[in-house]
Amino acid sequence: MAVTYLSAMSLLPIITLPDPLLRTRSAPIERVDDALRRLADDMLETMYDAPGIGLAAVQVAVPRRLLVIDIADKETEPPSPIVMINPEIVKLGDALAPYEEGCLSIPDVRVEIERPSSLTVHFLDRDGREQQLTADGLLATAIQHEMDHLDGRLIIDFMSRLKRDIVVRRFKKQARLETGA
Ligand code: NI
Repeated sequence: MAVTYLSAMSLLPIITLPDPLLRTRSAPIERVDDALRRLADDMLETMYDAPGIGLAAVQVAVPRRLLVIDIADKETEPPSPIVMINPEIVKLGDALAPYEEGCLSIPDVRVEIERPSSLTVHFLDRDGREQQLTADGLLATAIQHEMDHLDGRLIIDFMSRLKRDIVVRRFKKQARLETGA
């Protein structure tokens, strides 16, 4: 899918379960430079193409604390990309809200997860500037989902152990079939 204003960028392969990299803790980013901006832009294009509303760098096999999000409705709203580098939750709201979440690294699996419905997050933006954002609704959910990736946490961790084991077995079997192992 060509998104004209992003046409100079490239699509990155998204890793999926059971890739062990998804379970690693991503390392902090020490320098916001052109290479990092390029990675963020490629991640955005990869996310739009998938299509998805969020992507963490570890999902394109780069275990660094970088994520991209855009919750804008593609049909009715202009793109509204957010790049977060080294995000830290400053405050979580008390109220919880359920949301049925999917994950580009776990295709065709959806899990209803209750998370705080609002939060404030501190991060560096694409230009390395300090930012603080207060979010609620879908954006708050997406930020928490992507930040979970930075710590190796996945939506299947919110399932019962039995259901999780079934999903993991299914993906392991599929990976064996794909590699012919
Ligand atoms: Ni995900």
